[in-house]
Amino acid sequence: MSERIAVYPGSFDPIHNGHLDLIERCRPMYDRLVVAVLRNEAKRALFSVDERLEIIRELIGERRHAGDSGNSGDGGDGGSCEVQSFSGLLVDFMDEVGARIVVRGLRAVTDFEYELQMALMNRRLNPRVETVFMAPKEQYNYLSSSLVKEVFSLGGDLTGLVPDPVLGRLRRHLAKG
Ligand code: PNS
Repeated sequence: MSERIAVYPGSFDPIHNGHLDLIERCRPMYDRLVVAVLRNEAKRALFSVDERLEIIRELIGERRHAGDSGNSGDGGDGGSCEVQSFSGLLVDFMDEVGARIVVRGLRAVTDFEYELQMALMNRRLNPRVETVFMAPKEQYNYLSSSLVKEVFSLGGDLTGLVPDPVLGRLRRHLAKG
């Protein structure tokens, strides 16, 4: 049977607990889950792509696919999980890693139109690509990376909303000004 490979794409600037919840939820569903960070020069980001990759790698306890870099890929709790960056079209990146499934989180109804547009465009670009929508835990339903940055910059409490490595790096960024 062929491997079930899924890609979870996003900006992840920064990754928050809603993203992590989704990763843990879908990890057991696939043999290989690739968290894919978009390299988008046009968008001003707080964290560099390398920083985002480093944070995510630290958080997911990356287990790369057996075919990549010689590391062993299998983990008892549901396949390998790794992070990579990509630029250009998502469907092209999916071809590169041999994936047909895009995983996206759906929070409030407001996400729906944008997500549907992307899903249909991706399917038009490559009819073999399917998008799977997943709901995060209720307490993360209102959570977004932009809100995380805004609340942090205004001194708000982010306890329980972002993992410690993100909080630490947010503090360092703030200290740097
Ligand atoms: O976290 P985000 O910013 O909502 O993620 C958006 C992302 C990265 C999934 C989307 O912008 C994307 O896939 N960009 C790659 C370019 C592309 O393939 N565009 C056409 C598909 S709609």
